[in-house]
Amino acid sequence: MLARVCSSQLQLLRSSARPLLGRSLAAARPLVGTSRSRSSSPATAPGPEGETLDQELRRLASYGQTSVSLKATLDTGLGLLLAPACTNSTGLTKRQRTLIQIATFLKRELPVRLARRAVELQQLPEGLHNMRSVKRVREWYEHSFVDIRRSAMPVDVATEQAFHDLLHTIYERHAPTLVTMARGVHELRKEMLATNEKGEFADKREIHTFLDKFYMSRIGIRILIGQYLELHREDQLDGYVGLINRHTSPAEVFRQAVEDATYLCEREHGDAPEVVLMGRTDLTFSYIPSHLYYIMFELLKNSLRATCEHHGSKRQTLPVVKVIIADGENNEDVVIKISDEGGGIPRSHMQRIWSYLFTTAKPAFGGAEDGGFSSFGDHTTDTPLAGLGYGLPISRSYARYFGGDLNLMSMEGHGTDAFLHLPRLGNRDEPLH
Ligand SMILES: Nc1ncnc2c1ncn2[C@@H]1O[C@H](COP(=O)(O)OP(=O)(O)O)[C@@H](O)[C@H]1O
Ligand SMILES: [Mg+2]
Repeated sequence: MLARVCSSQLQLLRSSARPLLGRSLAAARPLVGTSRSRSSSPATAPGPEGETLDQELRRLASYGQTSVSLKATLDTGLGLLLAPACTNSTGLTKRQRTLIQIATFLKRELPVRLARRAVELQQLPEGLHNMRSVKRVREWYEHSFVDIRRSAMPVDVATEQAFHDLLHTIYERHAPTLVTMARGVHELRKEMLATNEKGEFADKREIHTFLDKFYMSRIGIRILIGQYLELHREDQLDGYVGLINRHTSPAEVFRQAVEDATYLCEREHGDAPEVVLMGRTDLTFSYIPSHLYYIMFELLKNSLRATCEHHGSKRQTLPVVKVIIADGENNEDVVIKISDEGGGIPRSHMQRIWSYLFTTAKPAFGGAEDGGFSSFGDHTTDTPLAGLGYGLPISRSYARYFGGDLNLMSMEGHGTDAFLHLPRLGNRDEPLH
């Protein structure tokens, strides 16, 4: 069974829904910038204009961010937004000019986005910023900020290559952010319980609002860096422009997600319901397949778990989970529905299911440091079936990032329908805060 998942993960790496980067490239670099000869900690390192790091972070955090749509990302990757002038005078190929153009944009844009989050991470509601894991995440943001600010401007092939290598390190450094922040939240919950703090943790609105904004911003940063790193690869797969596949097939992504979710469900419950696919199985559209995979994987895990738990002993007759892909020529969205007969969700839980703090599963963080979670990133089957409470809110953030949405309708006692809407044109701007 393990071999099956490994092969499906490998397939993911090679085909449409592959994770953003290979996972074997764990950050081996020390945290303080080795891209420069610096030995002081970033918290005390003076900035280029003699500012302290804190002053530099605050100044950059006050600058505006530049919003990028999926279409603009695609067009830039295709070299459509290059200035027509001096094509040959530079002696650079179109690909090299495109990479330098994107690197230059990132050199300016990333410090602003990182600074905003680093500053925000210094002051969080309910004392969340004091948690050990949250401090670790803040350090990553500060280190990456310093690394990029002190790096050479990517103006030619050599400096662009150095910038690429730096961003590769940064991308790997931040891979465990989601699970580390989740651990930070868990630390806070434990502390609150120990001090007998009253109130339902899942209802802490301010923490939820912060996490929503934080993860949304993380998606944006990882798209920007991931897109650039992918464009840098010589061996782009057919149909791909960076992370974007112009022929993303929901049916193909679905098959990979079913295989992985089924494996986790069988491991946990000893069995799993059948999942059937209906509707426009031939449909393809421009999208980031790894995002679609993440959403489908999370929704399927929830449906499989609910079906097994609701039907408990009657395993042989587990009702099938239905996935329908709808699309008409003139539809503005690709719509995917996932329907299960897993008993639904009580109405009083409906608001809370979008909270990063709510789960009805056994909490994922137990005694072990990592609670069974992989620390290599978001796109992995190396996780429990449920228990972090992050599946739905993160999936909705992915869907909303480029103007889509995710909604759930429940019929308590019967089952749940999840509706995923993804815009076909992808020309809506990023939601920036
Ligand atoms: N299809 C479903 N049927 C029943 N309950 C569901 C379904 N999807 C989600 N839920 C409820 O929403 C909660 C939150 O889901 P999620 O964000 O994926 O986190 P997790 O799966 O880690 O608990 C689940 O614990 C479960 O109670
Ligand atoms: Mg889940």
